[in-house]
Amino acid sequence: PNSQGGQLGRLHEQAAKLYHHILVNTPAGQPALKYLLDRGMTRELIDQFNLGFAPEPTNGQPVLYQYAQQQELDYQFLRKSGLFVERADGQLQDRFHGRVMYPIKNANGQVIAFSGRILAKKAPANTPKYLNSPETPLFNKRQTLFNLDLAKQAARKAGHLTLFEGFMDVIAAYGAGIKTGIASMGTSFTSEQVQAIARLTSQLTIAYDGDEPGQAAIDRSLKLVEDTAPDLTLRVVQLPAGLDPDEYVQKYGSLKFQEYMTHGEETAVDFRLAYLRKDLNLQKQSELINYLNAALEVIATVPTPVGQSVYLKKLAGEFGLDLGSLERQLASIPAPRA
Ligand code: GTP
Ligand code: MN
Ligand code: MN
Ligand code: MN
Ligand code: MN
Repeated sequence: PNSQGGQLGRLHEQAAKLYHHILVNTPAGQPALKYLLDRGMTRELIDQFNLGFAPEPTNGQPVLYQYAQQQELDYQFLRKSGLFVERADGQLQDRFHGRVMYPIKNANGQVIAFSGRILAKKAPANTPKYLNSPETPLFNKRQTLFNLDLAKQAARKAGHLTLFEGFMDVIAAYGAGIKTGIASMGTSFTSEQVQAIARLTSQLTIAYDGDEPGQAAIDRSLKLVEDTAPDLTLRVVQLPAGLDPDEYVQKYGSLKFQEYMTHGEETAVDFRLAYLRKDLNLQKQSELINYLNAALEVIATVPTPVGQSVYLKKLAGEFGLDLGSLERQLASIPAPRA
């Protein structure tokens, strides 16, 4: 990297150290430390992920800005670093204050950005629960995946990466022994991230939150992966209703979570078929026929005849249908990929 990038990287490393120090060693960090421990984080995880706390200004002094000034860092450099916001009078203030700090690293383990979480369970109006760094020369949101530096090593052994929704899910899973977890920045999963994943592994397991937005997001992410990296094998783990992976670990413990992640795994096609029928009343003939037509469209995307036949047999068995008619209709659906 150029010297600007190097200096920006150093500032991020130093900020991460400062925030971590404040969290674990100072009175100002106590409420945040209690918040984290209360939600099941351990000291080991806090150290491993270098979690920190950005306090409110003390005696009117923003802590990170004060630190940067002691180093005599250039105003324009700081202004563009992403770590500060500029007041109308040109005065710089810390962007992050009163938030638990999650350092975001690139695939080489270098801190390139932060996400800060408020301490309350729910965010008050007009306050985001998580606040992320803006884009900088170091930080491209579309390309970044939380924990990719550690997960890529675990993926070599496990043979897959695991995509969660949130940073806390990644960290809780890590604590529970599942070290292949990654998460995108905020809710949107991008083609750049899919490409980064496809370069590192041959299978992606998606384990989003067990709620309606989580299910809808799984459906969208499956589509994005199929369009971007068709050779990547997809698996889905649907969490129980109302729980995200972090909450599952807290409620049932590490072993149960590991079991759930292994045994709860299904194929993308099985997820889609279940998702298609979740709001349908299949006792009604018209809805059943609509479902079967849609299900055959999904099965038509399976690349091999043997794979297709497995799903067709299952479908025929479930509804007591004639396999031949399902086969004939499937044959009439044009192949989605040449
Ligand atoms: P916790 O409440 O801390 O357990 O977070 P969570 O990961 O369970 O949050 P949630 O399921 O609501 O959202 C999933 C992910 O979306 C989070 O980890 C964030 O990356 C992102 N996200 C949630 N809320 C916000 C927000 O207000 N702003 C931004 N930029 N991202 C958010
Ligand atoms: Mn430490
Ligand atoms: Mn969610
Ligand atoms: Mn969640
Ligand atoms: Mn959560």
